[in-house]
Amino acid sequence: MARAPENAPGRWPLLGHTVPLLRDPLALFSAVRDRGDVVKLYLGPLPVFLVTTPELAWQLLVTDGPKFDKGIVFDKMRPLFGDGLATSNGELNRRQRRLVQPAFHRDRIAGYTEQTITGLAAEVANSWQPGEVVAFDQRMQDFALTASGRTLFSTELGEEVLTEIQRSIPIMLKYVLLRAFSPKLVEKLPIPANRRFDAAAARLRRVITEAVVSARSAGTDHGDLLSMLLLARDEETGEGMSDQQVRDEVITILTTGAETTAVALAWFFHELGQHPEVERRFHAEVDEVLGGRPVRFEDLPELGYTQRIIHEIGRRTPPLILMRRAREDTELGGVRIPAGAEVAVSQHTLHQDPRYFPDPGRFDPDRWIPDRMAELPRGAFIPFGAGARLCPGHLLAPVEIAVAAVTIGARWRLVPVPGKPVRARIKATLQPDRLPMRVVPRDTGATSG
Ligand code: HEM
Repeated sequence: MARAPENAPGRWPLLGHTVPLLRDPLALFSAVRDRGDVVKLYLGPLPVFLVTTPELAWQLLVTDGPKFDKGIVFDKMRPLFGDGLATSNGELNRRQRRLVQPAFHRDRIAGYTEQTITGLAAEVANSWQPGEVVAFDQRMQDFALTASGRTLFSTELGEEVLTEIQRSIPIMLKYVLLRAFSPKLVEKLPIPANRRFDAAAARLRRVITEAVVSARSAGTDHGDLLSMLLLARDEETGEGMSDQQVRDEVITILTTGAETTAVALAWFFHELGQHPEVERRFHAEVDEVLGGRPVRFEDLPELGYTQRIIHEIGRRTPPLILMRRAREDTELGGVRIPAGAEVAVSQHTLHQDPRYFPDPGRFDPDRWIPDRMAELPRGAFIPFGAGARLCPGHLLAPVEIAVAAVTIGARWRLVPVPGKPVRARIKATLQPDRLPMRVVPRDTGATSG
């Protein structure tokens, strides 16, 4: 017989769990595990069924994946993303996946790494002065946005687009999740946050549409991601994408890809700053593998400890929540889920589960020594999601993070600046509220290229 799930702790009248969610999401998503396999969470008045075990996460995302669409958060993002990969559903989404996927193949990633990412990482490392204090989180945002922008638009025209991307996207990312978690009327209020968001979204759509139209009419293959999108043909139908569809994919890729990567890099160096032994081993690996020369794509498999740090960052500070909506009446863990109900899983709930990650609060890259990883059940570790909606950037992102991290680490230590402790804040992702760090040269004689 179907059973009624318990509520998540800390529900407010009218506002539901929006306040604890914005104030201390990690505490909330850890606490739900004790309330059952399926728990009810309220976004304002809207109930969301939250699953809390790896088995149910796997069922939701993979085995029963076709029974669910993307949910309310993505509806709220549709005015910005249109019908791009992240927001579309059903057959349209499957078609877009087929068209976009080739841009993320390994060979392409090797190309982006060599043409764009290594050079940009070296620019960052070369831009600092010894002893300087940098806003490290913002610097990583600039880096990742520029990397996405140049990967998409390699031509001169790209520079203009890039300037607009750097102006608009941070504004939009600042407000997008707040909007998504707030009742609908909030986005209609004539408050500065809404005006800024709407103006930034309108500017970005205009500039990208112009870039797409002019790239299409020039008709040249520049080997960049935009050319790939314009040239892509569906194997089944032989059709390509309309200008509007390409624009939606470009905005989707820019918005989903850059922020997540930047935040992972910010946490990477934050954790090194807190864990001197991890930092020492990271530097030792960088020196041994690179020996003072710039990193190459082929070096990445040799950087095992760096990869383990990246896994541990993905465990501790992943994007916070994956949301779905039931297309039909269904059931999860003995709880009846009516058609149209919102359902979610938080990676944080799964990744802090002490059954699979002993002493889960401890930052320990060695928990990823390969044998231990093989022991995990399906669904226990899903920083990039799973199933048909798995992140298309799941191979590119770790490459970009590793290249930037070792290029910086070959030359610098990033030392935490004493003062207020750094806290995890929820914006579009889970990110540090601030991250001032002092740049101190390493005494290796190595250069960053
Ligand atoms: C550390 C970096 C990244 C993390 C942790 C991450 C995480 C995720 C997760 C968890 C999802 C699944 C959302 C869901 O199931 O609802 C997702 C989707 C997506 N990601 Fe990433 N991502 C990262 C980097 C990237 C990059 C570099 C790109 C592109 C260049 C990208 C593009 C996308 C897109 C387009 C989707 C939507 C897919 C869909 O809904 O079918 N991501 N990402």
